[in-house]
Amino acid sequence: MYLLAIESSCDDSSVAIIDHNAHVQICVSQSQDEVHKLFGGVVPEIASRNHSQNLLPLIEYAIQKTNISWDQIDAVAATNEPGLIGSILVGLVSAKTIAMAKNKAFLGVNHLEGHLLAAFLKDEDHQVPEDFNYPFVALTVSGGHTSLYWVEALGQYTLLGKTLDDAGGEAFDKFAKMLKLGYPGGVQVDKKAQSGNPEKYHFPRALLHSGDLNFSFSGLKANAQRLLNSLPEEQIAQDLEHLCAGFQESVVDSLLEKAKTAVWQNKDKFVNSRPRLVITGGVSANSRLRQKAQDWGQRKNVQIVIPPIRYCTDNAAMIAYVAMEYFKQGHRSDFNLAASASSTKESLK
Ligand code: KG4
Ligand code: ZN
Repeated sequence: MYLLAIESSCDDSSVAIIDHNAHVQICVSQSQDEVHKLFGGVVPEIASRNHSQNLLPLIEYAIQKTNISWDQIDAVAATNEPGLIGSILVGLVSAKTIAMAKNKAFLGVNHLEGHLLAAFLKDEDHQVPEDFNYPFVALTVSGGHTSLYWVEALGQYTLLGKTLDDAGGEAFDKFAKMLKLGYPGGVQVDKKAQSGNPEKYHFPRALLHSGDLNFSFSGLKANAQRLLNSLPEEQIAQDLEHLCAGFQESVVDSLLEKAKTAVWQNKDKFVNSRPRLVITGGVSANSRLRQKAQDWGQRKNVQIVIPPIRYCTDNAAMIAYVAMEYFKQGHRSDFNLAASASSTKESLK
């Protein structure tokens, strides 16, 4: 059984084919970073126009490269929420049209659900740990979202906490913009931070003792702007690595402290396994976050699962996985399924 999925909710055009065992046959993406970086951020109108140019060639390439014929494909899926409405529409209408023309089942997928379950993806170069399964605590951090969930099973998610203002990725991107490091900023800050001392500049960690599992990054952003305003240009240039390392440390600590608390609060629910923490979304590509999480997991006997970077940032494989799991359970979406800029699934707000 094969399923083809399209992801186009932001600025990456992506197409994947997956089989019924969650084995990714191919996942091809076309980044639009080169275009949007001229504007310092994603320009929605340009993003949707590029999706409409990118998607069909990507689909053709995926089919040719895998040698999987349309006869072998049982269903076609696309992200239908949340994201940039114009971008989503391009992928969604493409998937519906193909499904209708080729007489395939059609499924719409929530983008956040894709990130949430990306830890189950496997391919030729990547296996899922044998003892990994539901349930788990999940931290999803991207450019648009920062949330903690209790994940019981497919479709059974409880929101434990979320950001009250900016997303973790947004904080990285805005800091990078202040330092004129280019777009997208997270990966630039990560690179610079690798040779910096995280203790030279101290940035605040908001809500650390708030007693809940929410996050906040707007104060950090303001604090960083104030600090940069107070420093001479030459010192900023000289201390770029240290500034990045200090800022990154603050975001990583804020994320991890809440994730750790979520794991301990739910530890009794892990009856047949050690506790599990999954970290997904674009920011889980961050090298410091990966390293600190893995170190903690080893010390505390908590299983930490972070998908390979290609499945952390936006990709169609995670959409294909979710669609295939629902498809196997007999679910189908209506052809009049709407695109939505926000999440309409109550548990995935
Ligand atoms: O999941 P994603 O690809 O798109 C959204 O759905 O938002 O996440 C993109 C976000 C951006 O804010 C980007 O700066 C951030 O993930 N990001 C990183 C790293 N790589 C990507 N942030 C920190 N360190 C990284 N290495
Ligand atoms: Zn995303």
